[in-house]
This record gives sequence, C-alpha cells and structure tokens, in this order.
Amino acid sequence: METLLLDANTWLLVLTGAGVSAESGVPTFRGMNGLWEDQPVTEVASPRGFAKDPLRVWRFYSQRRAGAADVSPNPGHDALVAWERHLGDRFLLATQNVDGLHRRAGSQRVVEMHGNLFTSRCSNPDCTRPPFPDTTVYASGTVPGCKECGALLRPHIVWFGEQLDPDDLTRIESFAVKAMRSGGRLVFLAAGTSGAVYPAAGMVDNVRAAGGETWLVNLDASENASSFEHFVQGKSGEVLPKLGRLV
Ligand code: APR
Repeated sequence: METLLLDANTWLLVLTGAGVSAESGVPTFRGMNGLWEDQPVTEVASPRGFAKDPLRVWRFYSQRRAGAADVSPNPGHDALVAWERHLGDRFLLATQNVDGLHRRAGSQRVVEMHGNLFTSRCSNPDCTRPPFPDTTVYASGTVPGCKECGALLRPHIVWFGEQLDPDDLTRIESFAVKAMRSGGRLVFLAAGTSGAVYPAAGMVDNVRAAGGETWLVNLDASENASSFEHFVQGKSGEVLPKLGRLV
C-alpha cells in the first residue's frame, strides 16, 4: 500500500464522512442499509420536514442519538488523533459526521461541518438561547420546547437546504491558505465519504486548484473519486493506521 508521508513540511487537511464511523457500528447514509434507504431525507432532515412533522424528525434523531451514545471510536479515528498529535497546528479535521466520535477519540482540531447529534437549539431564529449540549433521548411522541421562548427545540444539525456555519468554512479555508503561504506541502485526504454533498465534496477541487496533493480512502470509488490523485481502497479503520508515515 502507498504511504502518506507526514513530515515537518506537511500541512494535512482531512475530511471524514459516515464511512469512518461505519466500523464503530454507526449506519452510513447511502448504500446498503443506509439511513436514507428507508427515511426520505426531505421528511427527516430538512426545515420543511421539521415544520410539517416535528415528531417524526425528533423520533429519527432520538434514535440516532441513542445509537451513537453507546458506540466507540475505531482505529480509523485513533489514527487521525495520532496524526493530529504529530502535526499539531499543521493538521485540521473537517468532519461531516455528527456522532461526536472524533472528539471522543481525542481529536481536538475538529470542525463539525454538519453539526452534532448531542447538541440542540431553539428553532425560533429570534430566540437568544444559544445551541446547548443535549444528550436526552426524547421518548417517541415528545417534541421538547425551549425554556426561554417556548418554541420547539430542534437538533443542531445542518439540514438539506440550510447553509453551513460561515465560521466553519472560514476556518477550513484559512487553514489551506496558511498552508500554501507557508511554502509547505498541502495535503487533502478524504475518508469514508461518498462525495455526494457540497460544499464538502468540492474541497478536493479547491485543493487541487491550489496545487495541493489529494488522497481518497474509501470502501469503494466515491462520486468524485476521479478528482483525487491517490485512491486507497479499503476500510478506513484498516487503511488509516497503516497509511500515515510520521517522520
Ligand atoms: N471505510 C471507508 N469507507 C467506507 C466504509 C469503511 N468502513 N464503510 C462505508 N464506506 C464508504 C461508502 O462506500 C460511502 O462512499 O463511506 C461512504 C459513506 O457515504 P455516505 O453514506 O453518503 O456518507 P457521507 O459521505 O458522510 O454523507 C455526506 O450527506 O446525508 C448527508 O449530512 C449527511 O453528512 C452526510 C452527508
């Protein structure tokens, strides 16, 4: 297998998707037994779906919260922690995953681009209450209300049709700009993602346009696999621990 040199000249930007959590027992979205197989995205992961049937949305997210509460990080998560400890501020992890497993594994330089399952927020845009940690698995038939304004609470997740947090995008972009300005070697590695959802799926093109090196670690060829210079096919929990050569 090819190895990825992680030396003093390397700046590494990693993007992970549901495939990195699959070996921890967290379901992916697409492909066999994917979450979107039996749950229409528009009904359970969109503002319109929430407005139409908040009970159904909370039932879906409560099930995912319960499922993600009793799983553990796998060797793929652990490898990324080791890379971060080796590279320091020349490492940044952007994850599409909302299961919190990267932080539980010990990753600190993490941007949770699509939010977090264990955070809720008020659905009233005028409410002053900020998003807050919430591990409650609400019983079916319950839609929690905001203590401050009484509006419905919602999961702090970026739904389809919603914008990502601009601060998150700025942090990712600034990292890449800093890497290029340093004269170092910018490497972008995507792991466990189908490349189906933007802007995450477009990161590879941005890095290539900036002259960076691009790697894909995935169980099968993702939609944007041809955009990557290196493609290491396999399970991230098996590939990542062997891929990085820390010098
Ligand atoms: N190791 C590596 N890759 C894997 C593994 C594994 N053990 N298991 C599955 N995969 C790959 C699959 O082949 C697939 O390409 O992971 C990818 C998972 O794709 P998706 O289920 O589409 O998940 P993801 O890419 O994270 O979805 C992106 O879409 O629905 C939205 O917001 C949601 O964040 C999610 C976004």
